[in-house]
Parts: sequence; C-alpha cells; structure tokens
Amino acid sequence: MTKKILVLPGDGIGPEIVAEATKLLNALRRDHGLDVELEEAPVGGAGYDAAGVPLPDDTLELAREADAVLLGAVGGPQYDTLDWELRPERGLLGLRAELNLFANLRPAILYPQLASASALKPEIVGGLDIMILRELTGGAYFGEPRGIRIRDDGVREGVNTIVYNEHEIERIARSGFDIAMKRGKRLCSVDKANVLEVSQLWREVVVRVAADFPQVELSHMYVDNAAMQLVRAPKQFDVIVTENMFGDILSDAAAMLTGSIGMLPSASLNSEGRGMYEPIHGSAPDIAGQGVANPLATLLSVSMMLRYSLKEGALAERVDVAVSRVLDRGLRTPDIWTEDCEKVGTVAMGDAVVAALEP
Ligand code: IPM
Ligand code: MG
Repeated sequence: MTKKILVLPGDGIGPEIVAEATKLLNALRRDHGLDVELEEAPVGGAGYDAAGVPLPDDTLELAREADAVLLGAVGGPQYDTLDWELRPERGLLGLRAELNLFANLRPAILYPQLASASALKPEIVGGLDIMILRELTGGAYFGEPRGIRIRDDGVREGVNTIVYNEHEIERIARSGFDIAMKRGKRLCSVDKANVLEVSQLWREVVVRVAADFPQVELSHMYVDNAAMQLVRAPKQFDVIVTENMFGDILSDAAAMLTGSIGMLPSASLNSEGRGMYEPIHGSAPDIAGQGVANPLATLLSVSMMLRYSLKEGALAERVDVAVSRVLDRGLRTPDIWTEDCEKVGTVAMGDAVVAALEP
C-alpha cells in the first residue's frame, strides 16, 4: 500500500534542505521501488504566515493521517516578538505532543571522513557511535504549572515544572532497553537523582524495567557528570536514555563531537512506530537562502524514516552508503569543509547523494 509522507519545510534553511530530501525520496520512488506519496504543509513561522498559527489545523490533520512526517526546521528572528503561543517552536512542540512522539532518537556518529572536522582529538572521537534517547513529551517542556506570575508582593516569578509519572518513565525506559538490545547492550540512564525527586522516581522505574532485560548492562549517571564524560571519553557510551531537557542539552553537545551539527538526523516515534523525522540543527536564519546549508542531516533523517516508519531497511542502508560515498569523494558543505576537500552548496550535495545511490 502506498505510504503517505507529510513534508513540513518550515523556516530558515528548512525549505532548502527539505528540497534535497524530497529530491532523494523522488529518486527512491522513481528508481528504487519506494511506494510513497508526498504532501507538503506549512508549520512554524511558515504556518503563522499562512494561517496565523504555528500549527495550522490542516497541517496537524495531515500529520495525523501520514505514515511519517519529515520536518525541516522552525524559527526565525522575524517571529521572536510574537506572543508565546504563536512562536514557531510551539508548532514543533505541538506536533510532538499531539502525535505522542515520546521517544526521540538522536544518533551521534562520527564519519571517519570527518574526523578532522571534530573539535576533539581523533583518538577521543574516532569510531564514535552513540545513541541518545531523549524523552520528548514530558518534563519541563510540558509540565504544569507553568508561566510567569505575580506574587502577592508584586514581584514577578517564572515557573516551570519537571513532572514525570511512572508510566511515562517506564515506556521511555523500555524503548531505551529495546534499542540497547539491538546495539551494544549497554544503557546509561542520565538523571539528577542526587537533587531531584523526579529523578529518584526515574531511577527507581528504570531499575525496575531493567529486570526484563537481563542482557543489557545498565548504568546511571548524573547529568552534570554525563556532560563532562561526553566530551572527556564519549566512546564509553552505547545508548543514553534521559528526560526531555537533559536530552536537549546533551544531544547538542554530542553533535559537536561529530564535527558538525549539520550531520545529525533524528527520529521522534510514538508507541506504534509512526514518527516525525528532522535534522537536529535548527533553522539557521544567518545562512538561510544562501544555498550553503548542509542537507546531510535531513537526508540521513530520510534514512531513519525508511528504517523506522516505512520498514525499508535496505533502502535506508542505500542512503547511508550514498552519503558515505559522497564524503569519500571529498565533497563538503562549508560547515564540514577542510582545506583538502571540495566545497559545495546544498543542491550539489543533494545531487551527489542521489547520484551515489546504488541501482
Ligand atoms: C531540539 C530543539 C527544540 C527543543 C526547540 C527548537 C524547541 O532545540 O529539537 O532540540 O528544545 O526541543
Ligand atoms: Mg535542542
């Protein structure tokens, strides 16, 4: 049956990088037997421009009907002064919440070809392949109460709440163990159990779930130490599972280990495996429209979509190999460029990946 993919270009460099992903999907459809149909809709600032809200009803409806969603990026300075609820980021958070995309997979893989682009020494990052599993629909991002309120004495105070119930912790923990079983069978749960009650419960539930996965070696780490270990000795990790905000921060740190945040894809899945796929970098308004953005994180997000939502593992592998070949040939967008390589723009990079697909 033909699968439906909803394409949400969004803002900034979003439309440019998503155009390359669309090109790739169309090539897979034309020459590699992929049976999908694509539809496009506005979200984020583009949603606000088109319909006055960052997540228009029609976009949400299409997202609910789709087998998978591909998102570029949201946000831009022209939207920074909008009311809170109208900001582009609310579109993204709305999609995560409405589609119940609680499991956010953020792989950090260092391509050997890019070893010199990493800020860390090759012996520290060489061969790096870790998976950060970030809980995506709970914690401070969604917890109540929240807001800015005025105290009795007239002083304003801002409030957010980190709240997780045990069901939420259990389902993300299970995802973490499942993923670890398919990889190196090591899971590190990151929390702040020395200070936060919510983390104490997190740890207790993770330990309980571990009983069902005797083959997985479970460890625990406080988030501050995890941040340090990620830049000190990142290869000690296989899979990291953590709550929403810790995962947001640690995944950016992990991204830099790989040379460029422009390389990292992500998948956000619900309990049925339906998902939204997006590069983890943002809308990069400073380089939007210049044709220099790195489309590889988005193309690798297509690969994750093929693997996780469309069950087309062989095609996913083909995309991964194509990306690797293009890097072998020395093609680089400016963010990953080094002296000995050929500098190319967004479109040329996308063309090269499509050309490198195996027949
Ligand atoms: C991310 C981003 C988002 C987040 C922003 C854009 C709301 O930083 O996907 O990591 O904080 O989750
Ligand atoms: Mg982030």
